[in-house]
Amino acid sequence: MFRAAIERMAPYTPGEQPRPGQRLIKLNTNENPYPPSPRVRRAILAEANAALRLYPPPRADAFVAAAARLYKFPRGMILAGNGSDELLAMLFRAALGLGDRVAYAMPTYSLYDTLAEIQEARVVAIPLGDNYAPPLEALGREAANLTIVCSPNSPCGTLAPAAGLDALARKLAGRLLAIDEAYVDFAGSNALQLARRHRNVVVMRTLSKSYSLAGMRLGLLFAHPDIIESLLKVKDSYNLNRVAVAAGAAALDDSAWMRRNVERVIHTRTEAAMRLRAMGFTVPESASNFLLARLPGRDMAPVAAALRRRGILVRHFPKSVFRDALRISIGAPAEMRALFKALAPLVGDAAPGRIARGRRSD
Ligand SMILES: Cc1ncc(COP(=O)(O)O)c(C=O)c1O
Repeated sequence: MFRAAIERMAPYTPGEQPRPGQRLIKLNTNENPYPPSPRVRRAILAEANAALRLYPPPRADAFVAAAARLYKFPRGMILAGNGSDELLAMLFRAALGLGDRVAYAMPTYSLYDTLAEIQEARVVAIPLGDNYAPPLEALGREAANLTIVCSPNSPCGTLAPAAGLDALARKLAGRLLAIDEAYVDFAGSNALQLARRHRNVVVMRTLSKSYSLAGMRLGLLFAHPDIIESLLKVKDSYNLNRVAVAAGAAALDDSAWMRRNVERVIHTRTEAAMRLRAMGFTVPESASNFLLARLPGRDMAPVAAALRRRGILVRHFPKSVFRDALRISIGAPAEMRALFKALAPLVGDAAPGRIARGRRSD
């Protein structure tokens, strides 16, 4: 009934979401442990009482206007999405057809693979460099139809330097460069201005992480107005609902609230990284709200499963070169304490064989 490419492909597997009423410590999908600004709740209630009878504004006007104020970009350079996943899907649909090439680092956000398969595009996967560095020069040499850099990258948390991205944009000479900055509010710098400087650069943000609004599905894309015009052709007419538009505007208008939560997450991240290293894990420097904790060469699937049985969800990527790692979202301090309590007996001091013993005693 469907295209061969669709019949063939495996669906994207999102991280586990608890069932209603199920109490789990959720450190698997990089949500924010703190609530969104109280202004968001007020805006949602006001909108719910106002005009739900009517379709929403097709370009999510109030949300885009708030983004224009906050980031000091013209509105014509901003596109709102139902999460940045939708913006990524629009980008793939608009930029890639059968056999076109899309290049990105490997490992990275695995949704890119799924979107490429849907388009029947060819993936050029470039391994990360030393110390998890994004392979910017190699990506430039590939000159694919679409190049994506996830910065900070998932699942390792490393930031691509803006100067390197600037050079890559130039090297790609008119071919599209998309910079996925889903986690960049947890980093010390960002590359947003490249969307102003280069006509081939798209920068994507989400309110799911730093703004604590994963449930609202709010994303933003910044690019030259010509790129926005092309993407609008593949956009669902009313892609954001009225409640989300109001929530997104209220959240951006209170970015100070977001900053306070981000500072708390960064503080916990620093402590958690130290603790994991003390337990014997290799932990790359993270500019995001998660840590990659590796025990090189060991399959961490049993540890992830044992944590799951103790009610703690972390992310394990069984098919990746990071099979020997757990990606741990930064939760509230109490959640992290529960994680360390459960993790310690599973890995001990990371001496050989400890994982296996942990598994047996589980
Ligand atoms: C790198 C990256 N980009 C985009 C997204 C999607 O975010 P959103 O919730 O806005 O769709 C995620 C979500 O985990 C992500 O990890």
